[in-house]
Amino acid sequence: MIYSRITGLGYYVPDNVVTNNDLTKWMETSDEWIQERTGIKERRYFEHGKDTNYSMATAASRQALERAGLSPNDIDVIVYATITPDYFFPGSAFLMQRELQMDGKPVIDIREQCSGFVYALSIADQFIKSGMYKSALVVGSEIQSSWIDKSTAGRNTAVIFGDGAGAAVLQTTKDPGHSILSTHLHADGRFAEDLYVKEPGSSRPGRTATKEMIEEGGFNVYMNGNAVFKHAIVKFGEVINEALSANGYQSSDINLLVPHQANIRISDYVRQQMGLSEDQVINNIQRFGNTTAASIPIALSEAWEMGKLKDGDLICLAAFGSGFTWASALIRW
Ligand code: UT7
Repeated sequence: MIYSRITGLGYYVPDNVVTNNDLTKWMETSDEWIQERTGIKERRYFEHGKDTNYSMATAASRQALERAGLSPNDIDVIVYATITPDYFFPGSAFLMQRELQMDGKPVIDIREQCSGFVYALSIADQFIKSGMYKSALVVGSEIQSSWIDKSTAGRNTAVIFGDGAGAAVLQTTKDPGHSILSTHLHADGRFAEDLYVKEPGSSRPGRTATKEMIEEGGFNVYMNGNAVFKHAIVKFGEVINEALSANGYQSSDINLLVPHQANIRISDYVRQQMGLSEDQVINNIQRFGNTTAASIPIALSEAWEMGKLKDGDLICLAAFGSGFTWASALIRW
C-alpha cells in the first residue's frame, strides 16, 4: 500500500497589520464588539504592488519545499485552493507554477471556500495513494481585503476576513504510521446563498460586469452569519467524529485539532464538544482573522514551528464554510 505524508509546511502573511481600531476609520464598529463576537484582534491586508494571491502562495510553497528538502521540480502536481484568484481565469495555480518554473507540471485550481485546503489535501492524497504522482504541493491562498465592503453596510463580514497563504508538501510513503489516514468531504448546495459573492456571474443577460451590478452590491460578500454559525457548530463535530470512527479512534485520542479559523466561539464550542483542552486546539484567528482556504495551512505551519506536531501524534484538521462545505483529515504525524 502507498500512503501520503506531509513532509513540509510553510506560510506567508502580508506585513500590513490592520487592527480592529484601524477598521473604525472606515465603518461603525469597535474593538470590543469584534473581539467579543469573533476573537479577532487584528488581521493582515495585502499591499498592492508587493503581494498578489499567487506571490503569497509561492512564498508559502518555497518555505514548505525548503523544509521538505525539495526543489520545485521534485513536485509532480500543484493543487491550489482559493476563492480570490488573481484572474477570473486561468487560476492562480498557473501563475505560481510559472513563478516556480515548473513548466509542464499539472496544476489544479479548486474553490471550496473555507474547506478548500482540506479538499485540496484530499485530492493530492488520492493522486499519491493511486500511484499516479509521488509528490504534491497543496496550497491555500486568499486576498479578501480587496473584496470586502469596508463601509458600515459590510461590517458583519468585513471585520472577519484577512489575507494570507499556507502550503504543504505531500510525498509518498509506505509507512501508515506517518501518513494521512483519511479525508472526509461534504457539501450541501441548498445553502449556497447563505454565504456568497454573486458577481461576476455568467448566467445573465448582457455583459458579465456592469456599473449597475457593482452599485447593486452583487460584488460584495453576503453572509447569513447566524445560519453559518449554527450549521458550523454541528458540522464541525460531525465530520471530526466521522474521521475518528472511520479509523477506530475517539476524541480522547486526538493530540491536536487544527480547525479552520472561522470564529473563536465556534472553535471553543467544538473544543468543548470534543472534550479537548485549550492546549490541544490551535487558534490564531486573533492575529490573522479568517483567511478562508489559507487558515488551516497557516495554523498547521505555526503548530509545526511551535513543536506541537510530534512524531506519531494524531492530528485532526476540520473545516466548515460557504457552499456549505465541511471536511476533515486525520493524520498520523
Ligand atoms: O469561515 C466560515 C464563514 N464564517 C463564519 O463561520 C462566521 C459565522 N458567523 C459568525 O461568526 C457571526 O454570525 C458573526 C460574528 C459574523 C456576527 O455575529 P452575530 O452575533 O451573529 O451578529 P449579527 O449579525 O446577528 O448582528 C448583531 C448586531 C446587529 O445589530 P442590531 O440589529 O442587533 O442592532 C448588527 O448590526 O451587531 C451588529 N453588527 C455589528 N456591530 C458592530 C454586525 N456587525 C458588526 C460589527 N460591529 N462589525
